[in-house]
Amino acid sequence: MSFSKLKAGVMGWPVDHSLSPKVHGFWLRHYAIAGEYVRIPVEPKDFTTKLRHLRSDGFVGVNVTVPHKEAALDGVDEVHPLAARIGAVNTVVVRPDGTLYGFNTDGFGFLENLKAGYARFDPAAGPAVVLGAGGAARAVVATLLDAGAPEVRLLNRTRDRADQLAADLNGLGTGVITVADWDRRADHLQDATLLTNTTTLGMKAQHPLELDLQQLPDTALVNDIVYVPLETDLLARARARGNPVVDGLGMLLHQARPGFEAWFGRLPDVTEDLRNHVLAETS
Ligand code: ATR
Repeated sequence: MSFSKLKAGVMGWPVDHSLSPKVHGFWLRHYAIAGEYVRIPVEPKDFTTKLRHLRSDGFVGVNVTVPHKEAALDGVDEVHPLAARIGAVNTVVVRPDGTLYGFNTDGFGFLENLKAGYARFDPAAGPAVVLGAGGAARAVVATLLDAGAPEVRLLNRTRDRADQLAADLNGLGTGVITVADWDRRADHLQDATLLTNTTTLGMKAQHPLELDLQQLPDTALVNDIVYVPLETDLLARARARGNPVVDGLGMLLHQARPGFEAWFGRLPDVTEDLRNHVLAETS
């Protein structure tokens, strides 16, 4: 009986490209849960109204993607403190009393992906170098500080954006964010235990990321949040010099888990089958 199905989805504009229906659809089938997960195209001018109607439209919750993540912060009734600090909500739950609760799972996805790909990774072990200062970087930096990173070195082409991010997030945890010049990025890799690229450089049809890795310890974990291609030039070069590497697809998959659990009642696993299922869509 379709009317009894739990219904969730992803709100975005455009939303055709979103891989979330593929991920949640896989889990719904795999765990034999009577639920559905749909694409919800919503123009920015209609976003808040549509969000406020989620309950009457029969939804248990939604993911929120570009360009609505900031608007979602204001549109929900209660926001998780870390999401407020990041400045974006990507997951909304309709609570039994009808109120909307918003949180951000990007950082969770980022960290879980690193732990799953490299069991020895400890965010508190040393400095992390983060390239980029967009929305993804905000979630990554907040999560690293929250997880005990002593220092986050932030490098972005537009330095003002990095300074703003640092001003917004410094004070989280006990670590510090230090901002440095993009043009000198190769000089800030010393003693790093993690290097992560959150820019779009290296993505298919974009410029490659130019970065001399000479000063990076070969024990540092190297991660790219770009996942098309799966093995970016950065990851290939890091792997060739002996660094452990973790690709970006897992972040997308892991960030979906808390929402699925909240809406459908089960924390799902990220498996090789799921990876292959989603990869078939991206290649
Ligand atoms: P998201 O929210 O997904 O992180 P975004 O806000 O568009 O996306 O951020 C993209 C990131 O890639 C930014 O850090 C951007 O740098 P700027 O803040 O200077 O724009 C970075 N980026 C994109 N193209 C770049 C390029 N050609 N060289 C260097 N950095 C680039």
